[in-house]
Amino acid sequence: LTSSDTHNTPLDALIARQRPGWSLEQPFFTSPYIFDIERRGWLAKQWFLLGHRSEAPAAGSYIVRELLGESLIIVRDGRGVLRGFYNVCRHLGSRICDRDGKSNSLVCPYHGWGYLLDGSLRSAAALPANIDPASLGLHPVPVREVGGLILTSLTGSAPNADAIAREFEAGLRFHGIPEARVAARRSYPIHANWKLAFAKIARDIADPGQTWKTLDTWSRERAHPGSPLPISDTSPTTPICSASRAPIGAGRQTQSEDGLPVAPLMGKLTHYDGGVSLFRCEPFIFLAALNDHAVMVRFLPAAADETRLELTWLVNSSARESQVDLERMTRVWDMTVLQDKELVERNAAGIRSRAYTPGPFSELESKSARFVSRYLGELRAP
Ligand code: FES
Repeated sequence: LTSSDTHNTPLDALIARQRPGWSLEQPFFTSPYIFDIERRGWLAKQWFLLGHRSEAPAAGSYIVRELLGESLIIVRDGRGVLRGFYNVCRHLGSRICDRDGKSNSLVCPYHGWGYLLDGSLRSAAALPANIDPASLGLHPVPVREVGGLILTSLTGSAPNADAIAREFEAGLRFHGIPEARVAARRSYPIHANWKLAFAKIARDIADPGQTWKTLDTWSRERAHPGSPLPISDTSPTTPICSASRAPIGAGRQTQSEDGLPVAPLMGKLTHYDGGVSLFRCEPFIFLAALNDHAVMVRFLPAAADETRLELTWLVNSSARESQVDLERMTRVWDMTVLQDKELVERNAAGIRSRAYTPGPFSELESKSARFVSRYLGELRAP
């Protein structure tokens, strides 16, 4: 395998000459050819956070979302089960839906072919008699609903969605995520490869920076006793898919600038205990649940040098607009992401230089080193 944008070096040779503990070579951050291999291989297998239950709440509600260059329709069928399909008509391939909606069928605007909510073909004008309509259903994609989160994947093979559900379900229910509503959403285009964005932003999200001493004290004195989640820092041995709680620190009740509440309590919390529960399945599923709001983080690799980061803030569905301080709720995350975006884009700009060569990770960057070795292992796999 070779391509001009890997400087005519075969991919296996590029992988083979990577030095353990050093950053990746330039083509892994810049080459559309390598991005395409990732997109069809490793990325296609990953589960992504697509949305929240409240966005497709009733039979017939559907959402239209982009994932890895594909347009997908996620629809709740008549039995209340979410189903996912490629947004591609089985007649001549037109896009079927442009935006979220609600209907008892999906109708392609081009020549009017109609599909039931289970994806099967319902009506097609003048279909030749020898063609079986049952063979012309929409192409499915795997979808899972876990504690109110809508997860999807192009092939759904890694990691196992049952493992995500086992880790997440009880904790998400404790935080009232299935009954939450979307309060705000912001999108941040980042002019950098997804691996750079992941390395910086995921580390910032996953590291509350607490010591074990603080954790012990918090766990004894303040933490809500009813939580099903373990209290833990994000030590390097933490698995790729995990859910745990830690204190935000500095006596804060929630993650606002002054630490004061920004919305009514969620789920089973009866008082502010100043904790944050982190649900993560790296590299593409993150949710931070505070006492009074939660933040869904979506990383969307869009091209070799483009990543979209999307934040969605959830609040208690019974919270009135006047009880939610959107400005104070979104400010800390917004500022952090904008700072990270600038750092990541400066990093990407340097990597695009002909002078860039890989550098050694410091002892504080062991997570990045482990991610690189896992990534290379996946890329090497057939
Ligand atoms: S392409 Fe959809 S009905 Fe013809």
